[in-house]
Amino acid sequence: MSVRGPELTEHGPGLEERGPGPVNVTLSVNGTERHLHIEPRVSLLDALREHLELTGSKKGCDQGACGACTVWIDGRRVLACLTLAMACEGHEVTTVEGLSADGELHAMQKAFIAEDALQCGYCTPGQIMAAVALLAEGHTADGEIGEWMSGNLCRCAAYPNIRAAVRAVRDGS
Ligand code: FES
Ligand code: FES
Repeated sequence: MSVRGPELTEHGPGLEERGPGPVNVTLSVNGTERHLHIEPRVSLLDALREHLELTGSKKGCDQGACGACTVWIDGRRVLACLTLAMACEGHEVTTVEGLSADGELHAMQKAFIAEDALQCGYCTPGQIMAAVALLAEGHTADGEIGEWMSGNLCRCAAYPNIRAAVRAVRDGS
C-alpha cells in the first residue's frame, strides 16, 4: 500500500517564488520551530538528518521504495525522501524522536521490543511511525495490518513479529 502525503503546498509559499540558491526555511519539527538555510531541492529526509541532526529517520533507498524514512506531516505518514523540506513549512513534522514523551517509550516502541520485531533495526523507525499511523487510520483488522504496512520493507524479514507488535498495541496487551 503506497503512502501518500498531504497537499503540502496548500499553506506553504509557492516553490517558484524562491531559489534556486539557498533559502531560509522554517520547519516545525516535533513541536519545535527549526530554522534552516537550504537549497529548495533538499528533501525533508536530508533536512532532518543532515541539517537538524535528527537521524532516527533512515535513508534506505532515497526513492520512495522502502519506507525507512517514514515520518508524519500533520499526523499523516509520508515518505520524507520524496518530500521537499520547504514544502513542509506551515505543517507539523513528527519524527520517531518525537514519538516518546518525557523519556517514556511509546507503546508501539515497547511492543516492538517485547515482540522482538527487529533484527538489524534499520527499518524500525519507519516501521514504528507507520504502525502507529495505521492504527490511528483505523486499519486495525488482522488482514489489514500487513496490507497497510506493505510500504515498509524489512530486509531482515521480521514481518511476523512486526505484525504481532502492531496487534499487541491494538489489543492493549
Ligand atoms: S528512503 Fe524513503 S522510501 Fe526508502
Ligand atoms: S530489522 Fe533489519 S531491515 Fe528490518
